[in-house]
Amino acid sequence: MFSPEVVVIGGGIAGLGVAWELAERGRRVTVLEREQVGRGASWAAAGMLAPSAELGFEELDLYALGRESLARWPAFARRLEAASGRDVGYRDAGTLVVADDRDSLHALRRLFRFQEEQGAPVEWLSGDEAVDLEPLLSPRLPGAVYSPEDHQVDHRAVVEALALAARSAGAALCEGAPVVRVEPDAEAPRIRLGDGSEVVARVVVLAAGVGSSALGGLAPAPPVRGVKGQALALRLDPERGLDLRHVVRGPDAYLVPKADGRLVVGATSEDGVTDPRVTAGGVYRLLEGAVEVVPGVEEMELVETWVGHRPASRDHAPLLGRGRQPGVVYATGHYRHGVLLAPVTAEEVATEVDRLIDGVGETAPVLAPFSPRRF
Ligand code: GLY
Repeated sequence: MFSPEVVVIGGGIAGLGVAWELAERGRRVTVLEREQVGRGASWAAAGMLAPSAELGFEELDLYALGRESLARWPAFARRLEAASGRDVGYRDAGTLVVADDRDSLHALRRLFRFQEEQGAPVEWLSGDEAVDLEPLLSPRLPGAVYSPEDHQVDHRAVVEALALAARSAGAALCEGAPVVRVEPDAEAPRIRLGDGSEVVARVVVLAAGVGSSALGGLAPAPPVRGVKGQALALRLDPERGLDLRHVVRGPDAYLVPKADGRLVVGATSEDGVTDPRVTAGGVYRLLEGAVEVVPGVEEMELVETWVGHRPASRDHAPLLGRGRQPGVVYATGHYRHGVLLAPVTAEEVATEVDRLIDGVGETAPVLAPFSPRRF
């Protein structure tokens, strides 16, 4: 039996970020990933860093956390690029949220008022002004909100960079290592793997995303369920005028132009659905929603389709910090916001682990609203 100081269960963007951060701080860290690191929900994401554009009303704590994490992204990306030697495709062109009819225009005005009340630097645009900014938009759109601070990143490059950086800082990343049970303990929590072997650590970080609720030994079980998202990628073709600079969010689909020339179009939202299939209906709805706001989509080559399962808690906010179980720190349930919340999760959860090991203090104020103990 080997005994790292910290075991991180789950090698997605949350787990890899925490592992990298802890390894850089000199902790002996092992990540146990049931399949391949970075290939779950983090791989299926779109990479939007969009607290203004992607949050519901009344989620004020989450909105504040999202903006805090967004503010940390540029430095996080620079540090990650330096540590890994990988470009993580940070793009700061901003986001256009567009309406396509009277109902969606009404909803957009409400979103705009909410964003203004929260002090977000948003701008209301007429349809013509939106087309001036992004010529491929449909000329029929009645209005748009421009969020210059809602950026994006190449999320697949980010998880690959995190794996490289974590390894080079000394973390061990074990793939094909499913955890079946955690025995919480204040000094020596014990982790049992699918092959019957056991690991004892000083602290366990639970970053298993949709796999969190299936872990044995945790009472209450983490209330995380999957929300299926189907998405696809098209090929931009600047030579034929088929290019986008901004992230565009329409009422029924978002379009995210990537540095490698792909245009990610997402995503369905199918609550509690575990099936991994891409369906004709899913692709149809996405393309219909995309064409509505960017008609040129019809001319683009379809290059990839995929499915991911967002890890959603009961209130759709993440579980961050110490749980009810001794020796267990949570970094899960990020739902739609795993990429946006990566910096704040990595840095603050690592600090929480440090505090637990060193026996100092309680939860950082930024994490307090997201305590797993609220369930
Ligand atoms: N954040 C993108 C999505 O959840 O579809």
